Amino acid sequence: MDKIRILFVCLGNICRSPSAEAVMKALVEKKGVASRFDIDSAGVIGYHEGNPADARMQRHAKKRGYNLTSISRPVKPAVDFNNFDIIIGMDDQNIRDLLYMAPDDDARNKIYKMTSFAGDSQWSEVPDPYYGGDAGFELVLDILEVSCEGLYGFLMKD
Ligand code: 4NP
Repeated sequence: MDKIRILFVCLGNICRSPSAEAVMKALVEKKGVASRFDIDSAGVIGYHEGNPADARMQRHAKKRGYNLTSISRPVKPAVDFNNFDIIIGMDDQNIRDLLYMAPDDDARNKIYKMTSFAGDSQWSEVPDPYYGGDAGFELVLDILEVSCEGLYGFLMKD
């Protein structure tokens, strides 16, 4: 069976999308289906390329048992829209940027916003925690944990 290939995208690929990657990997591991997934993350900008996840984000994730191991890289439209089945942005600007990068309708149809999987929660975006305090990083993880459960249900429904 083909793997389900997921790419999570935020602005810098050092806070939200590496966390989404780790939360989703932990979830499919817990469900016993990790081998059916390829999960990666990338940033709209390449400014942090080669860097590990933000130390504050790593610390908050660690408290919940997530190890952020991914290294920042920018989205590569020419390959990523081919190599992934679903491309998930964290906020409305990420979605606008991804739509702009997408080469055609097939690519555009792969783009989703993370909070569209957050059920009937009040969240409409995963807010950028970079310039805020501890609460912002905790909120990111709260939203990602709920959204990853929803995403899992969406992907495994048939
Ligand atoms: P992320 O957070 O998009 O969740 O990785 C940010 C990281 C870096 C910057 C902004 C947001 N920055 O402006 O460098």
